[in-house]
Amino acid sequence: MTERILVVDDEQDIRHSLEIVLGGAGYQVICAKDGEEALAVVEAERPHAVFLDIELPKLDGMEVLRRLRAENPDLPVVMITGHATIERAVQATRLGAYDFVEKPFSRERILLLARNATEIGKMGREVARLRTAEVEKLRGACASMRALRESIQRVAPTDKRVLILGESGTGKELVACALHSLSARSAEPFIQVNCAAIPDELIEAELFGAVAGAYTGAASTREGRFAAADRGTLFLDEIGDMSLRAQAKVLRVLQEGAYEPVGSTRTVRVDVRVVAATHQDLPGLVADGLFRQDLLFRLKVIPLEVPPLRERAGDVRLLGEHFLAAYAARDGIVAPRLSEASWRLLDVYTWPGNVRELQNVIEQIVTRWPGAEVGPEDLPPEISRGVMNSLSGPPVAGANPYVGLRLQEARDAVERDVIRAALERHHGNVTRAAEELGLARTNLHKRISALGLGGT
Ligand SMILES: Nc1ncnc2c1ncn2[C@@H]1O[C@H](COP(=O)(O)OP(=O)(O)OP(=O)(O)O)[C@@H](O)[C@H]1O
Ligand SMILES: [Mg+2]
Repeated sequence: MTERILVVDDEQDIRHSLEIVLGGAGYQVICAKDGEEALAVVEAERPHAVFLDIELPKLDGMEVLRRLRAENPDLPVVMITGHATIERAVQATRLGAYDFVEKPFSRERILLLARNATEIGKMGREVARLRTAEVEKLRGACASMRALRESIQRVAPTDKRVLILGESGTGKELVACALHSLSARSAEPFIQVNCAAIPDELIEAELFGAVAGAYTGAASTREGRFAAADRGTLFLDEIGDMSLRAQAKVLRVLQEGAYEPVGSTRTVRVDVRVVAATHQDLPGLVADGLFRQDLLFRLKVIPLEVPPLRERAGDVRLLGEHFLAAYAARDGIVAPRLSEASWRLLDVYTWPGNVRELQNVIEQIVTRWPGAEVGPEDLPPEISRGVMNSLSGPPVAGANPYVGLRLQEARDAVERDVIRAALERHHGNVTRAAEELGLARTNLHKRISALGLGGT
């Protein structure tokens, strides 16, 4: 690819000579004669590097640099300076200019700078690409997921503590991983502790380590998770389940970066970024005396909320299609196709287990119906019953399962639910169910097979 270089200078001679030198070396050169034009050209032409005069009419070179840094942080800028402005050029490098070149300049110096700057730019773009790939593991096209991905990209490199909130199965762990991968600590360990899975009496030793004999069963000295995460990130999952004793100790690490392993008086210092997550209502736990308020404040420097699946318009289908393809590929089979009516049922279902539940449902479907067309009756009962529930239960906002259904599909769905319920009540006895429904037994048999209820 030909690298494009933008030359910004109000003096025609300078523009011309740089054009000859850079053009001769194979670069594509674009010119601008003032700051405003430069900003417009950067927008329109997306150059790979910029040579920018420090003194410009209209918009000063330093101001142009500032704006370029803010809008295009990966675009390398080389300042062009005269002897009189060399101090400002040094200042410019502090503002993020890649380097500067003093007039009158040598051809070699220009070419060296051009080569290095475009190289740096390439690396910057590659990093940006990897970064995007990392947060895009967190799929979702709805506005709240897009906003969440942006927040992650903004917060990850800052080293600030993050508290991730969201219902079970919403993707909190993926968020924590992305925060680590996009931070300056990404080459260091990412250590995860599920506080809910560790008994109260063991959590301290798990987190801070213990010396031999410190407690029953502590046969040998062990390293804690904080030590393992030194220089990296420690993900404290289900932090709401942590014992108050352990909370006090965690608080101290957050305040002082130090702790003593269980049974030891030796102070250990660590440099750990803590990311915590919970599906619980921490302020509620604080009110009940089960969670320390001071710890909550320390953890919640940046709160990130992962929305529940039922509030992510359009994401059930987007994620569902993704999981269909992924599981089919994993198993080497053809992915089933879901009918429109099936997608609508998935869409109105409330997904108490969020993305994890959707993943499980799709995995079942792929295993059960490879290559087939999947109708509402083939979905797990809690989902296909959606139609029935919305008839009998209280109306759920925005969850009318008939919206967009063809009349025949809606009729079938209702009929299917009514018949299924009658059969359940009569333990599969078709004669009794037919009696209750006011149908001839043979008619009910016909409806059962027409509606695909034969297997139940
Ligand atoms: N937006 C998403 N895109 C793709 N996969 C997702 C997304 N959200 C969650 N998943 C997948 O769903 C599953 C559950 O996600 P995760 O374990 O991160 O949830 P969680 O919020 O930590 O749940 P819990 O509270 O139960 O621990 C994982 O397999 C994860 O890869
Ligand atoms: Mg989790």
